Amino acid sequence: MENMKDIMKGRLLEIKDEALKTIKEARTLEEFEQLRVKFLGKKGELTKVLRDMGKLAPEDRPIVGQIANEIRDELEETISSEKERLNNELKLAKLNKEKIDITITSKKKKVGHRHPLIATIEELEDLFISMGFSVVSGPEIETVENNFDALNSPENHPSRDMSDTFYITEDILLRTHTSPVQIRAMKEMGAPLRIVSAGRTFRFDDVDDTHSPMFHQLEGLVVDENISMANLIHTLDIFIKELFGPDMKTRFRPHHFPFTEPSAEVDVSCFKCRGKGCEACNFTGWSMELLGCGMVHPKVLEYCGIDSEKYSGFAFGMGIDRITMVKYGINDIRLFFENDNRFLEQF
Ligand code: PHE
Repeated sequence: MENMKDIMKGRLLEIKDEALKTIKEARTLEEFEQLRVKFLGKKGELTKVLRDMGKLAPEDRPIVGQIANEIRDELEETISSEKERLNNELKLAKLNKEKIDITITSKKKKVGHRHPLIATIEELEDLFISMGFSVVSGPEIETVENNFDALNSPENHPSRDMSDTFYITEDILLRTHTSPVQIRAMKEMGAPLRIVSAGRTFRFDDVDDTHSPMFHQLEGLVVDENISMANLIHTLDIFIKELFGPDMKTRFRPHHFPFTEPSAEVDVSCFKCRGKGCEACNFTGWSMELLGCGMVHPKVLEYCGIDSEKYSGFAFGMGIDRITMVKYGINDIRLFFENDNRFLEQF
């Protein structure tokens, strides 16, 4: 009987060792379940041994029983802790693999595109800055005084007509050109002065491929001692060559503006044939009326409180829409204002 107790003890320890070893090797939840059944189940190894309890001496039974219980507890604990470890590993692997993106996919923001007119304005401003001009701005809603009176435009001047100008009241209007910025600049800063100013201008025009009631101008003004027509011609000539290329020529034709005397309109070599003559320029070699200019009228200087005996000046105004059209070969001004990305994204 002594022997039986040792045999059973030995058998139990063997089961324990084997079970612990295989449990450590198990890699899936099913394997754990199989091992549990194999060692601890109703028909398992442990139960098999305990079936022989009857063969033990009564006083040995509690001893062997206790060993068996301890082994069962240990195996159960090992299985469940190993199972939990595996479970955690699986969960972690799954989490790592899944990586759920908890951010809401936002609507893709369409980044805007620089408008070709703005690109031209910036290029023009840069050029004039490099020539020592400062950039100023003025309001689109102006006084009749700044837009016409101060610029020496008589009451009966055709451009003051209701049919050409958007009047808001009798004294307030949408500026018809950027020239009122000349008045503002001279009043605010006095002489000497060298400014450019670009922005929107408005005239009552029917829309077609070259006309729009809203368009853009860039105004330039230089006031100083000893400023002459030669300075004006040279400045604009240099500017055109910088903007369009050194082979481009300028031609000054006499014209009339109430606020400059003498006044001129400037033509520039045709952009297409660069002066040779082609269909685009009616075989003249010139792009016509690109800008207006002249020597600031003494009355305008005096109106702004500048001594016209001491100071003189020149001014110019150019159509930015027109310049942008010839620069990029755009044949319809309406394209600028339709906001069609297919058009805008080309520049
Ligand atoms: N303001 C004039 C126009 O709109 C252009 C201009 C500006 C002419 C400055 C002379 C001097 O036509």
